[in-house]
Amino acid sequence: MHRIIIEGNNTLNGSIKISGSKNSAVALIPAAVLCDEKVTIANVPNISDIDALDEILNYLGAIVDKKDDTITIDSSKIENKLIPEKITKKLRASYYFMGALLSKYKKVEMYFPGGCAIGARPINLHLKGFKALGAKVEEKDNLFIITADELVGTKINLDFASVGATINLMLAAVKATGTTVISNAAKEPHIVNVATFLNNMGAKITGAGTSEIKIIGVKHLHSCFHEVVPDYIETGTYMILASLIGKEVTIKNIIPDHVKSVISKLEEIGVPMEIGVDFIKISAPEKLKAVNIKTQVYPGFPTDLQQPMATLLTQAKGKSMINETIWENRFLNIAELKKMGATAEVITNSKAVIVGPCKLKGKKVKATDLRAGASLVIAGLIADGQTIIENADYILRGYEGIVEKLSKVGAKIRLEKMD
Ligand code: EPU
Repeated sequence: MHRIIIEGNNTLNGSIKISGSKNSAVALIPAAVLCDEKVTIANVPNISDIDALDEILNYLGAIVDKKDDTITIDSSKIENKLIPEKITKKLRASYYFMGALLSKYKKVEMYFPGGCAIGARPINLHLKGFKALGAKVEEKDNLFIITADELVGTKINLDFASVGATINLMLAAVKATGTTVISNAAKEPHIVNVATFLNNMGAKITGAGTSEIKIIGVKHLHSCFHEVVPDYIETGTYMILASLIGKEVTIKNIIPDHVKSVISKLEEIGVPMEIGVDFIKISAPEKLKAVNIKTQVYPGFPTDLQQPMATLLTQAKGKSMINETIWENRFLNIAELKKMGATAEVITNSKAVIVGPCKLKGKKVKATDLRAGASLVIAGLIADGQTIIENADYILRGYEGIVEKLSKVGAKIRLEKMD
C-alpha cells in the first residue's frame, strides 16, 4: 500500500509529457495473444494495471520482453488455461482475454474481472455478442465457460456503446468466418488504436471510430509493430490541474483532437489555452466560472474526467451541476472534497452540485478509485497545508510517474510505501 503526501498551494510551471493510454494499452496486450508471431508494442505506460497483465501473460506462458516503454510478446506457445481468480480480479481489462482466447482457441474459461468499484459493471453485452457469434456461454458463480464449434460473423447491435464490449467483440470476431458488423459501437480513441493494431497484424477492420465497425474474418494474424496512442484522460487531468495552478504548463505528446470536449468545457470556464499540433499550453486565469457537466460516451465529456473536474469546480464562481450518466458510483470523491472544505452535495447517484469558490484545506483523505484519486491529487495541490492521500495504489494503476511528472513542474508531492 502507498500513500501520497502533498504540500499544497504552489504554482506549477514547465512541461508534462503524456504517456501511452492506459485504456488502450490494457486492450492491446491481451489482443497480442491472438497472434502466433512476435508483436511489439511501444509507448506502453508504466502503471500497475500493465504489471497485472504482464502477470497474466507470464501465467499463460507467453514470452514477454520489456525494454523501457516497449514490450514484445511472443504468444506462439501459450496454454489456454484458466487464469487464477486472484489475478483476474486485479483489473477490469483481464476480460479482454475472453475475446482474444475465444477467438484463438474457440474456448475460454474465465472469472469475472475486477476493476474500480464505480458501478455494478455487468458484462452482459460482451456475452450477448459472443453468443451472437455462435458461442455457448455457461456461467457458474463467478466463472464463465465460453465455447464455440465455430465463430461465425454476424450483425451485433450493442444496447449501449460499451467500450469493453466493442473491443471484446472485435477481438472475438477478428478470426471468425465471414463478416461481423458491430453497430452502436463505442468510438473512443482506444477503439481506433486497437483496430489499427489488429489491422497491422493483418485483420480486416473498417469503421473503427464510427458507430459501425465492420470486421471481415481472417485466418492468420502476423507479427507487427504498434504504438499506444497518447492517454487523453491523463492529458485532461493535467489540463484541469494547469487551469487551477499553472503559471505556464505545457502538456506535450498529445492529440488535441481527443480532448475537444475538455477544451470546450475549459473555454466555458474561462481558461485561455494555446493549442498546438501535439501540445496544449495553459496558464491559470484569475477567475473560473461555474459550469454544468454531463458525462457522455466519446466524443462527449468523459466520465473518467468527471471527478478531476469536480475538484476544479470547487474553485469556480457559482453553482455547478454534475450529471454522471455512465457509472452509478462515481461521486465517492465528493465526501473527501467536503472534508477538505468544499461546498458540494451528492443529490442522487447521477447528480451532484458544487458551489464555489471555496478555499480547500489539506487533510487526510482516501482514494476510493483511480479517478477519485486524481481528483484528490488536484485538491491536495491547490489546498492550503498538507494533504495525505491514502489508498494511493488506485492512482498508480493509471497514471504513469505521477509524482515524478508533478515534481518536475514544481509540485511538492511524494509517494510513501506503507507496510
Ligand atoms: N455496461 C453494461 N453491460 C456491459 C458493458 C457495459 O451494462 O456488458 C454498462 C456499464 O455498466 C456502464 C456503461 O455500460 O454503465 C459503460 O461501460 P463500458 O463497457 O463502456 O466501460 P468499461 O469498458 O467497463 C472503460 C474504461 C473505463 C471508462 C469506461 C467508459 C477500461 C479498462 N475501462 O470501462 O475507465 O470509464 O470505459 O469510458 O477501458 C478509468 O480509466 O478510470 C475507467 C474506469
